[in-house]
Amino acid sequence: MFTFYLVYRVSLKVIKTIKEITNWEFLQPVILVPTMGALHDGHRKLIREGNAIKGNKGTLVVSIYLNPIQFNDPKDLDKYPRTLDTDYETCEEEGVDLIFAPSDVEMYPNPYSIGVSENNISQELCGSKRPGHFDGVCTVVTKLFNLIKPKIAIFGKKDYQQLSIIRQLIIDLNYPIEIIAIETQRDKNGLAMSSRNEQLNEIEKEKASVIYKALEAMVNSGESQSKHLIKLGKSIIEKESQIIKIDYIEVVDRSNLKKLKVIDRPALAAIAVFIGKTRLIDNIEIDFE
Ligand code: PAF
Repeated sequence: MFTFYLVYRVSLKVIKTIKEITNWEFLQPVILVPTMGALHDGHRKLIREGNAIKGNKGTLVVSIYLNPIQFNDPKDLDKYPRTLDTDYETCEEEGVDLIFAPSDVEMYPNPYSIGVSENNISQELCGSKRPGHFDGVCTVVTKLFNLIKPKIAIFGKKDYQQLSIIRQLIIDLNYPIEIIAIETQRDKNGLAMSSRNEQLNEIEKEKASVIYKALEAMVNSGESQSKHLIKLGKSIIEKESQIIKIDYIEVVDRSNLKKLKVIDRPALAAIAVFIGKTRLIDNIEIDFE
């Protein structure tokens, strides 16, 4: 038993410095799951997909870095859950080969003055509500790609806008990286898994299931005018208006996230709400035949 534990432990490598990650001789191919920690079942799903793709060759890397520059509100950063010890255990359980968990000083030595911005897709949806957020995401993901040089990187569809922006980043900055998108993992009541759910109490978690109910009603309505879909989604969420405040409900073109009047192409219904000070997002794809 002891021997097994020892073998199990040493198989997970943790790297915290730029110097070590840069010099690390990865078994190829490298598969990267970028995270900000506070790992939950949604992350497990991404990691499991990485493991399935890896099979018995390559290196499955999980980066755990709570990237301060993607938080436009310092209070939001302060209350973001930090669970590094449990995150390590989760990675061990899921058979991750290597964790990259740098400090802020490693990632952003003082002074730093170069960042990466996307100027089109990032203007929509959450972009207009969280100024600078996607610049922070693009900058840190670019750094992770440069340091880890993955062949494949795995992202969740819950952060659909982030996924679309990263796909654009791959094209525009010529990274030879394949992006794999994974369906959103949900609680039994439909609530999309998110590290931010930790900030909700049990009643709020239950009430938050209305977000997915609204999305499902929108996609199943058969309605083709976005304004009707939005009205429907609003009417469902507003039943919980004591607790939940809508930040936006939109129907957008899936290829560029621009607002759509009529669903005449693959679309996305996207919702952002506040429960107290916690902001939650979710979305659903609307197919067009
Ligand atoms: O989705 C996240 O957890 C973060 O935005 C990411 C991609 C790890 C960049 O910090």
